Amino acid sequence: MSNLIRTIGKLLPDCDVPWTLTIKHFYYFGGNFFERNEKLDTELNWQRLRTYHPFFKLPETEAEWRSQCEFGKEKDGQDGCLPEKAENLVKVLKTHNIKHLVSISAGEACLEYHIKKNYPELKLTLTEYTLDNVEVLKKVFKNCESVIKLDALKADWSQFAQKKDVCLLFFRLDASFDDQELRKIFDNLYQAGVVNIIYVPNLFLTVKFLLFEKFRAFLNRILGKNLTFAGYFRTKKRSHSFWCDLYQVEDINLCGSGSIKHGAARGVFLKRM
Ligand SMILES: C[S@@+](CC[C@H](N)C(=O)[O-])C[C@H]1O[C@@H](n2cnc3c(N)ncnc32)[C@H](O)[C@@H]1O
Repeated sequence: MSNLIRTIGKLLPDCDVPWTLTIKHFYYFGGNFFERNEKLDTELNWQRLRTYHPFFKLPETEAEWRSQCEFGKEKDGQDGCLPEKAENLVKVLKTHNIKHLVSISAGEACLEYHIKKNYPELKLTLTEYTLDNVEVLKKVFKNCESVIKLDALKADWSQFAQKKDVCLLFFRLDASFDDQELRKIFDNLYQAGVVNIIYVPNLFLTVKFLLFEKFRAFLNRILGKNLTFAGYFRTKKRSHSFWCDLYQVEDINLCGSGSIKHGAARGVFLKRM
């Protein structure tokens, strides 16, 4: 069965879905971790994931965190490609003369660990949604300048605005918000005067991913697994509608190979018009 699925997968085109589309994403977190169709987007649910779920759990010590970041243990936000993504991201930062990076909801911050390693002079601010996550980052990430608690839906962006050498990074934050919320966030960023933004979603929907996502959700449902509503995925065309009248767009690909097989590699560098 899995061989058949793999063969079909190879035959499907891995190209962008060319139209404007947003889909709901459902994920199986295992056992009875969440109630059926429960939503992930509350602070409490993220707190539970970061405290108890093996795939999302935050490290307890600096040594554990360093080793996870260095050896790329397969966990949320980490894959073998992280050092390459960080290296390419640093190239983008240097090209645009960015001296201060503010990473919005850094999670475990392993990408940021590699960014700081590649670009030690860069001033780095991390934010997170849950207080526990903020406390863990303060404990393990000693050489970043500050860690603050921030809800992207309520944030006062003016603290990061008007400065040409400051860039806000939104890495894999897209799923947490619906289309109206994302548009509102970009409107708020623009109105506050934020100049530079790097936005890298979990993915821009491809034909292959879309078909697999639907098939996987169908299989999980008939197997009676508890699926959690884990947010939204969208096409590149839909995503562009959030900023196209506010920011100039430069496409970026953080996986040098150009592959779109790895998640969170393609994105945009946005400069305020
Ligand atoms: C998929 S994780 C990405 C974390 C990290 N950037 C990475 O790539 O590993 C999504 C993050 O969004 C955060 N989040 C959820 N809702 C949020 C909100 N309203 N404001 C800010 N962050 C939020 C969660 O705390 C979580 O760490």
